[in-house]
Amino acid sequence: MSAATQPVLTAGGNTPPAPVHVGIIMDGNGRWAAARGVPRALGHKAGAEATRRVVEAAAGQGVSWLTLFAFSSENWRRPADEVRDLTGLMRHYLRHEVRQLVENGVRLRVIGDRTAFGPGMLAEIRRAEAETAGNTRLNLNVALSYGGRAEITAAARRLALRAAAGEIAPEAIDEAALAGELETAEMPDPDLIIRTSGEKRISNFLLWQAAYAELVFQPVLWPDYGAEHLREAITEFHRRDRRFGARNG
Ligand code: IPE
Ligand code: IPE
Ligand code: MG
Repeated sequence: MSAATQPVLTAGGNTPPAPVHVGIIMDGNGRWAAARGVPRALGHKAGAEATRRVVEAAAGQGVSWLTLFAFSSENWRRPADEVRDLTGLMRHYLRHEVRQLVENGVRLRVIGDRTAFGPGMLAEIRRAEAETAGNTRLNLNVALSYGGRAEITAAARRLALRAAAGEIAPEAIDEAALAGELETAEMPDPDLIIRTSGEKRISNFLLWQAAYAELVFQPVLWPDYGAEHLREAITEFHRRDRRFGARNG
């Protein structure tokens, strides 16, 4: 049977397990606002509402790890007022979402260069991480000022420093050693990466970790994203035949 005709349902009629780790490149806030003739800031606000919905939907659909790309290391290149709007919204989300996250059993972690933000934001991040640290239903990573290249570079630099200090032999640096220095050490690699808005690129998201992720591109703009879109993406994921370079049969 070819991959395309494999049944989505298992023999017992049960739906197959959800992907363990889903990453989402949440794109299209600006176009959503432009289509309505409203300021971009309103698009970002509506995007934050979508984020709230999707975190709940992911937990409800059995996803264990969810990594959301909220602000890239390159997004600092945007006009200062847009950067201000975005950081304000992220801070507001961190402050006001914690109670809901705790109620939903969500543990929040931030990946990326958090030191690029001001002390107020840093304190908010620390508080949200501490207050949700005991939750186990869904692990939520929010990527802020995150770039895959910067993350890999920092990991390589740490290994080089340890080698120079004589703590590790250069020959001992292998894939596991590098992965162990990434911010996602101890986390499973993403099984499914979704990008909304119709763009078909990675834009520096989880470069190392995405080596064997299934990519699903959905045309919907992020502020319009909901539980049914996540379900569609997971259904598409189940149609894929993952081989990891080997052969299935
Ligand atoms: C995603 O929406 C939010 C961020 C990248 C911070 P955009 O602001 O990129 O929206 P488009 O791509 O311009 O529509
Ligand atoms: C990627 O979206 C980053 C986030 C969604 C946070 P961008 O809108 O910044 O990506 P490009 O510029 O279209 O590649
Ligand atoms: Mg964009």
